[in-house]
Amino acid sequence: MLKGKKILLAVTGSIAAYKAAFIIRLLKKQGAFVRVIMTKASSDFVTPLTLSTLSKEPVLIDFLKDDQTGEWNNHVELGLWADIMLVAPATANSISKMISGNADNFLIATYLSAKCPVFVAPAMDLDMYAHGSTQDNMKTLEERGNRIIYPESGELASGLVGEGRLAEPEHIIEVLNTFLKEGLSLTGKKVLITAGPTHEPIDPVRYIGNRSSGKMGYALAEAAVKRGAEVTLISGPSALSAPSGLLKMVKVISAKEMFEACQSNFDQDAIIMAAAVADYTPKEVSNIKVKKKQDDWSIELEKTQDILKWMGQNKTNQKLIGFALETNDAVAHAQGKLEKKKLDAIVLNTLEDKGAGFQTDTNKVTIIEKDNKSTSFELKSKEKVAEDILNKLEELL
Ligand code: CTP
Repeated sequence: MLKGKKILLAVTGSIAAYKAAFIIRLLKKQGAFVRVIMTKASSDFVTPLTLSTLSKEPVLIDFLKDDQTGEWNNHVELGLWADIMLVAPATANSISKMISGNADNFLIATYLSAKCPVFVAPAMDLDMYAHGSTQDNMKTLEERGNRIIYPESGELASGLVGEGRLAEPEHIIEVLNTFLKEGLSLTGKKVLITAGPTHEPIDPVRYIGNRSSGKMGYALAEAAVKRGAEVTLISGPSALSAPSGLLKMVKVISAKEMFEACQSNFDQDAIIMAAAVADYTPKEVSNIKVKKKQDDWSIELEKTQDILKWMGQNKTNQKLIGFALETNDAVAHAQGKLEKKKLDAIVLNTLEDKGAGFQTDTNKVTIIEKDNKSTSFELKSKEKVAEDILNKLEELL
């Protein structure tokens, strides 16, 4: 899997820096292109000459290449060059700089410029590793889409025994291989995902909405990014933060805005319409707050554009996956929608199932395809449901 892949190895100042030599050898043996960047501190543990000899590329440490001519090393170019960035070993200090964005050295500036998947293999003494700061920083790293290759337990340079020893180079290579095999199956595919509810305005302070949290759509977007897809996420109002690595994030409020955003981002390989779009919207929107004068108040509603139906009618080669949330005669209703909206598949969830639907962390779905082939899945986390849906999408593609 690593053959021809461009790996940027970032080495920071831990005694485990000497293991970078073994990592480079293994990567080169598998046919990867390797470039190495180091912090100054790491060059006290292993020489740049060792690592440049093994990688067959100059090792970069400073921003300045030549202080006579002012030539500089381009961290942006290097960050964009890499297919994968591997920070190994990663010290507590460098991890903390990765979190705060403290780009006072070439390595961190390159990390901040990289758009590729980043793997971080920490190495430090057991108490430094167990410290709340390090643990919090590692959690944040993961939340931002970095992947941690957890350290092993064993004898440490201090003589103490515990967790903090850099994962073995063979294990690190295995993690990268597994990632490339499983993780990038949607490379080069453009995928549009919609998520969340829509809010239909009544006046400047009131709206008609629904209980969708956006969790399913956001989980789909995150999983698709991890598989290498170029993901555009169009989201109605949701408290969730955007998954990292998206190609584009478009925030909308109303069904009308969501329709417009979908039309201008329609050129895709696949579209998953997970948003709970309002079916009706107030016919008139007051531009001043409506005062409570009458005892009762009727609001006249009109149908919104069925976005998915429009997509079905206008698609060229896009694979279309819709959602159906039903309370009764679920399969029959979902099959009806699949046909009416010219979909390739529909993900059915029914409120009859406990733990499924809106505002839960779990979902229980059945995926129905064009030929009425259906696959039912167990109740599972929305992250795992997202994987099932993407597996189906990959079959369709
Ligand atoms: N949908 C859409 N535009 C709308 C309404 C729904 O694109 N105005 C999409 C949803 O994102 C979902 C699918 O259509 O993928 C099914 O939504 P649902 O509300 O269950 O179906 P409807 O066709 O609106 O039918 P009904 O509300 O009558 O069940």
